[in-house]
Amino acid sequence: MKQVVLAHALDHRPAAADFAVIDAAPPVCPKGGVRVQLSHISMDPYVGSRLRGRHMGEPAPEPMIEAIPGHGVGRVIESQSAEHAVGDWVYVMDAGWREVTGAAASDARKIDVRGLDPAIYLSALGMPGLTAWAGITQLAKVGEGDVVLVDAAAGAVGGAVGQIARARGAAEVIGIAGGPEKCALVTGRYGFDACFDHRSESWRDQLAERYGGRISVHFENVSVDMLMLALTHMAAYGRVVLCGLAAHYHADQPAPGLPIGMVIGKRAKLHGLVVYDFYDRWEEFLSEAAPLAREGRLTIAEDRAQGLAEAPAVFERLVSGRNTGKALIAL
Ligand SMILES: NC(=O)c1ccc[n+]([C@@H]2O[C@H](COP(=O)([O-])OP(=O)(O)OC[C@H]3O[C@@H](n4cnc5c(N)ncnc54)[C@H](OP(=O)(O)O)[C@@H]3O)[C@@H](O)[C@H]2O)c1
Repeated sequence: MKQVVLAHALDHRPAAADFAVIDAAPPVCPKGGVRVQLSHISMDPYVGSRLRGRHMGEPAPEPMIEAIPGHGVGRVIESQSAEHAVGDWVYVMDAGWREVTGAAASDARKIDVRGLDPAIYLSALGMPGLTAWAGITQLAKVGEGDVVLVDAAAGAVGGAVGQIARARGAAEVIGIAGGPEKCALVTGRYGFDACFDHRSESWRDQLAERYGGRISVHFENVSVDMLMLALTHMAAYGRVVLCGLAAHYHADQPAPGLPIGMVIGKRAKLHGLVVYDFYDRWEEFLSEAAPLAREGRLTIAEDRAQGLAEAPAVFERLVSGRNTGKALIAL
């Protein structure tokens, strides 16, 4: 069995050359659990921090030994669990970047793939979708009349934020993304009302002109600089979801402090979001999100490649912000 490992310990932004694809013995079926042939594995920004031992106190994987951590979907090929049959489709959180994985029965969540590409359980109906749902429906409690801004809007989390906010009745949904192609995706396939390309010249002025003082909810995925901008244009008593800081994960300096004076001036409410807190709400999330996905109202583009050997290059694109949509590998 093939698996992807770190070639050496990391102290910098991960690049494709930092990984190796090696042969390893396939994992055995855990007692009472399942063995799964993975069909798709997920690449997520937090893994970049995890590989450097910077994520939620979790250790970096052992170079040349442990598979890179990552979520996966696939089919059960061996079962010692009464709840799982061979052939069942499952989502495994700690699958790892490898061809076959083992999981406890409770860690192999059955998924309904009828009429869907199973990879959707890594994006719109997976952890990124749950993150967006938690922030929009449980923390910011978006409803009719809200004007919602999100950055990294072409990505899995950002794209789902806008579409779920729309489904919850938001009056306007606005994205920020890097480049005209990403913005076309955001206003086209994702159906946002507007998208500002942060690589273009006068985007800050255009945003101020159209939305100054009108943003009631902001969902932060990227940086303190973007947060400052969003706060500047917020209506009083706005709500902010602090979800990610993608531009700071591999920086040499820690992220700058929050603009407390601005938070006071705007009477803003800030919600830190950690998706782990919502894993026990997955079925509730799916009951709302799966019908939207089946109706085509919740859809996420993919930066997809075929085969484990491509995983390092796809991941390098993701951690440098050059991905468009959900980064994943089909096996
Ligand atoms: N709090 C939680 O529990 C939780 C759970 C899941 C994800 N997250 C966070 O949610 C955010 C989005 O995740 P995602 O999986 O959907 O990823 P993603 O949006 O597909 O990828 C990250 C995006 O961030 C933007 N970016 C801007 N500056 C960057 C930089 N210097 N380096 C890298 N990226 C940069 C890029 O988009 P543009 O080119 O459009 O700027 C890039 O495509 C991330 O911050 C992630 O860590 C948090």
